Amino acid sequence: MSADDLFQPFTLKSLTLKNRLVMAPMTRSFSPGGVPTQAVADYYRRRAEAQVGLIVSEGTVVERPSSSNDPDVPRFWGEDALGAWKTVIDAVHAGGGVMAPQLWHVGSIRNPRTTWVPPGPVDSPSGLSKPGKRFGEPMTEEAVADAIDAFARAAGNAKRLGFDAVELHGAHGYLIDQFFWAPLNEREDAWGGQSIAERARFAAEMLSAVRTAVGPDFPVIIRLSQWKQQDFESKVAYTPDEMETWLRPLADAGADCFHCSQRRFWEPEFEGSDLNFAGWAKKLTGKPTITVGSVGLSGEFVASYAGEGSQPASLDELLRRLERGDFDLVAVGRALLQDPQWAVKVREGRTDELMAYTPEAMKVLV
Ligand SMILES: Cc1cc2nc3c(=O)[nH]c(=O)nc-3n(C[C@H](O)[C@H](O)[C@H](O)COP(=O)(O)O)c2cc1C
Repeated sequence: MSADDLFQPFTLKSLTLKNRLVMAPMTRSFSPGGVPTQAVADYYRRRAEAQVGLIVSEGTVVERPSSSNDPDVPRFWGEDALGAWKTVIDAVHAGGGVMAPQLWHVGSIRNPRTTWVPPGPVDSPSGLSKPGKRFGEPMTEEAVADAIDAFARAAGNAKRLGFDAVELHGAHGYLIDQFFWAPLNEREDAWGGQSIAERARFAAEMLSAVRTAVGPDFPVIIRLSQWKQQDFESKVAYTPDEMETWLRPLADAGADCFHCSQRRFWEPEFEGSDLNFAGWAKKLTGKPTITVGSVGLSGEFVASYAGEGSQPASLDELLRRLERGDFDLVAVGRALLQDPQWAVKVREGRTDELMAYTPEAMKVLV
């Protein structure tokens, strides 16, 4: 199969992407004190110069006392960090690329790789870090409002600095996802409830506030996942109807695109159809979607944290689904972390030059 379909332009709101390839957001922890360095700007510029259609930054945290769980994760607030992000976006533009910061709040997920503790109370819907594991108090009404405002301010700053879009990190069991996910959201006020529509209100209000901050034309993406790092088998939506009830309010509130995170893109979401998460999200909402998960690689990314490498793998199944129109864009994580030239090699059919992914790649910014 030819990869030509991956190299067709795509228009997302006011933004025209030169192709369908998205660099997936990947935390690198190379920003001491939360400030991206020149090496971070150079790292993104290399992908911009090498045929990546849209770069989504590593998760960058919004202005709440405990939005981060690692002092080397970049902030998206404060003059020092925002100044450094200006250097990053200017470098990406100089390289011919476009970029969205991924705005992030870790919620009650602590980081096993550091003993650092954030300077403030931990935010979470119900004081739970895992199902049944209580560590503290639920967020107050004031904290919820401030968290929403922090995302909106960050989005406004992204636009002001010259970024081309924003992505909200609503996946993988972090703060926004903790509101979606019933086992961690026991609230009985307006931010919780029995139905996913009620638990989606936090994200929907956030999307409305973000939309107000960036105006009508600026693309707003939200990343979602059914799986949680606290439980790979759990889901937010167990049926297409539930999924529609989840996603519709988010689309109505201002999401232009759903970035549907799976660990393996080819896994069907519901019985009776081979559509994956991005396929269902597009079908149910009519919005553009991004698929992700083991594109071009044999093994999935969580195992790579435990030291497992992956070999290059065929793109045929991905191309079959793209050609069928299941999704519009394709995000690539580790293959692009390992090799800035990955997209160029795919475009030019240099498949014998595609590299294996080695976990050592996480330790350096190439
Ligand atoms: C080192 C590393 C860091 C990651 N950090 C983030 C992150 O900050 N935000 C996020 O949404 N996903 C993050 N992910 C998940 C990736 O965006 C992507 O969904 C995952 O790696 C699957 O894609 P792949 O199989 O092409 O690597 C990370 C993955 C890796 C390998």
